[in-house]
This record gives sequence, structure tokens and C-alpha cells, in this order.
Amino acid sequence: MRNDESLIFIYFCLIRKIDMRIYLIGYMGSGKTSVGKRLASRLEYSFLDLDRVIEEDQQQTVTEIFAQKGEDNFRSLERFALHQTFDMENVVVSTGGGTPIFFDNMDMMNAKGLCVYLQANPSVLLSRLIPNQQSRPLIASLGKEELYEFIKEQLTKRAPFYEQAELHIEARDLTPAILYNQVINWMKNQSRY
Ligand code: S3P
Repeated sequence: MRNDESLIFIYFCLIRKIDMRIYLIGYMGSGKTSVGKRLASRLEYSFLDLDRVIEEDQQQTVTEIFAQKGEDNFRSLERFALHQTFDMENVVVSTGGGTPIFFDNMDMMNAKGLCVYLQANPSVLLSRLIPNQQSRPLIASLGKEELYEFIKEQLTKRAPFYEQAELHIEARDLTPAILYNQVINWMKNQSRY
């Protein structure tokens, strides 16, 4: 980060303490992890991927947790991992696609940080998910057409939660630089209020 930008950013973080945590939310395949890592490094924040935190705590993959303990159990672990982030500062958190949907997770993230929704349409998500289906238990067994219908249906249900994020960004051609600039611009706009 350039020094002047860095100072502006820190200034806004200080006056709005909630902005010390940035939560990237959105459907599977929207790019939360890949752009999140680069955003964190530009902001000189740490980066956390909730799924990886759960996997490390449980010493099991998300797929194994779903298969052996069930989705409800996974959602409780996810909630626990999310709550641990509320004590952290200067962190970009990549959440799971389902995180905002369960419990009061969305309200909590909005209360504790800046939520950024990486928005993508079903066709874009489909093309990104096909090569990476196996590591995602909810979609691992679906054929291409089933997967497309599943994404469409789930997006309709999930969008009302995702849309509660303060900042919405089109994920299709998203690069870390675009995300970074949008976050910084959002911070600057806050100063007008
Ligand atoms: C899920 C998304 C996954 C992971 C789990 C469930 C979901 O995370 O948490 O497989 O319900 O959408 P990613 O969005 O990082 O793939």
C-alpha cells in the first residue's frame, strides 16, 4: 500500500473500529479466497479462510466433516470459527458460501466488520466450480446440468443474505487490484458521513 493510502485507510479504521475486519462473502466459486489473500497482503492485514481454520481444528477436510459428522455439525463449527474472528484485528476473512445463511452469522459479521459480497451469476459460478467440485461436498456428486440448476436455486435462497453486505462487487472480472480499490474508495466515502 502506498503511504498516503495507508494513512487514509488507518485513519478510517480508527474512527470506525468495525472496519478492522473485512468479511468476504458470496457463493462457492466467487473468488473469496484467491482475491482475499491478495487483498490482505495489499492492506498488510492477515488472511483467514474459515474452512481451513475448521479443517485445522478438526484435523479433517470439510468433505470428511460433512460425511462423518453431518452438515449441522459443520455449521456449528463454522459459527464457532467465525466468532473467533471477532477478537481479531486487521484481518481479511474468506467465509464459506453458506456462512451468512446460518444462525445470526450475517448480522454478526455486519456488526463486527465490513462485509463485501462478491457477486457472480450462475454461469460464471458453474464454469469456476466444475474443475473444483470434488472438494465441495454439497455439489460433489452433481452433473453439469444439475449443478447449474442447484446453483440457480441456492443463489435465489441465499441472495437475500448476501445482499445484506455493505459493499457489493461484481466478481466476474474481479482482480485483487479492483477489490482493493473498491474497499479503499468505500472507506473514503465513509468520511462524508
Ligand atoms: C459451502 C461452501 C464451502 C464450504 C462448504 C459449504 C456452502 O466454502 O464451507 O463446502 O454451503 O456454500 P467455499 O464457498 O469456500 O467453497
